[in-house]
Amino acid sequence: MKTLTIGTIILKNRYIMAPLAGYTNKSLRKMALRNGASLAYTEMISCNALLYKNKKTFDMLPKEDEGGRIALQLFGGDIEVISKAIKIVEENAKFDFLDFNMGCPVLKVMKQFSGSYWLKRQDELKKLFHTLVSNSRHPVLIKTRIGYDENHKNVLDVIKIAAEEGVAGVAIHGRTKTQLYGGNVNYDIISEAKKMNLLPIIANGNISLNNISEVEKITNADGYMFGREALGHPTIFSNLILKEKGYPIIDDNIEQQTNFLIEHFNNLKKEFGIDTAISLIRGVGPFYFKGLQDASIYKSSIIKISSEKDFFDLMNQIKKLNK
Ligand SMILES: Cc1cc2nc3c(=O)[nH]c(=O)nc-3n(C[C@H](O)[C@H](O)[C@H](O)COP(=O)(O)O)c2cc1C
Repeated sequence: MKTLTIGTIILKNRYIMAPLAGYTNKSLRKMALRNGASLAYTEMISCNALLYKNKKTFDMLPKEDEGGRIALQLFGGDIEVISKAIKIVEENAKFDFLDFNMGCPVLKVMKQFSGSYWLKRQDELKKLFHTLVSNSRHPVLIKTRIGYDENHKNVLDVIKIAAEEGVAGVAIHGRTKTQLYGGNVNYDIISEAKKMNLLPIIANGNISLNNISEVEKITNADGYMFGREALGHPTIFSNLILKEKGYPIIDDNIEQQTNFLIEHFNNLKKEFGIDTAISLIRGVGPFYFKGLQDASIYKSSIIKISSEKDFFDLMNQIKKLNK
């Protein structure tokens, strides 16, 4: 099994759970790690909100062993605020890497000159990276895109500055900010980043069990990050491991997926309480049925549940129907 070394930490394999706001809470991270991911990212956490002592934001901080390595991701646009936020997470959270978000294209984040707006602030990156590295007791990662738009693809320059300032690794979503989450992923630029041989490179963007070999061939990246493909499919990680070892992959089946869904629900209930668990499972539940027979029926049922009883009745019904 190939490993991935970032800074002083050796990850047991190269397969990583991406940060997904609204999804990668502790409940999901634990499932990704238990099924083989070598690293799981938190959702993006606001530096401003940490300074305001926002309770919801503090609740997002990982605080206990989750069964594997964790990257805590911050976002912010003000370097002074960012340095204070790092001190807060160093004192209040348990994690292995500090990650900084330089890829989010959402308006709310861009308005704070943060997320992928940093790709437009190249002159300030030396100071930003210096601040991240000098304030963090953990190795620092950045997660970015190939550039702001088609005419401004500056990720290679960003990596040079990051390496000079002591950043330990970089995850690259192979799209520009203006592409948002669709359109072609440019794996060639990720390959160029790898050839610079400055930092460990984690490839990201539409990577799946089906195309991992091809993406690896093109990019030769050190690590591979999975977002939407891993939603509802924690076995993507165990299957990636099987595939690398030369064994056949194990297809998802309805019984296994129903059991995962129950595990996820129970985790969410423990993490957030029953009301939030119901609302979150309505959001993430449909992903568990993707690709399975009768998926559309199950998807339309799970989004309608309004109580714990509804949830377990549906799970029992699905199990009975598929016996
Ligand atoms: C719903 C959603 C939420 C996301 N939240 C974050 C986030 O909090 N931080 C971040 O760096 N990227 C975030 N991303 C981007 C993903 O981490 C990833 O870069 C992107 O989805 C491409 O990878 P994929 O094709 O494997 O999903 C988000 C993407 C989606 C679809």
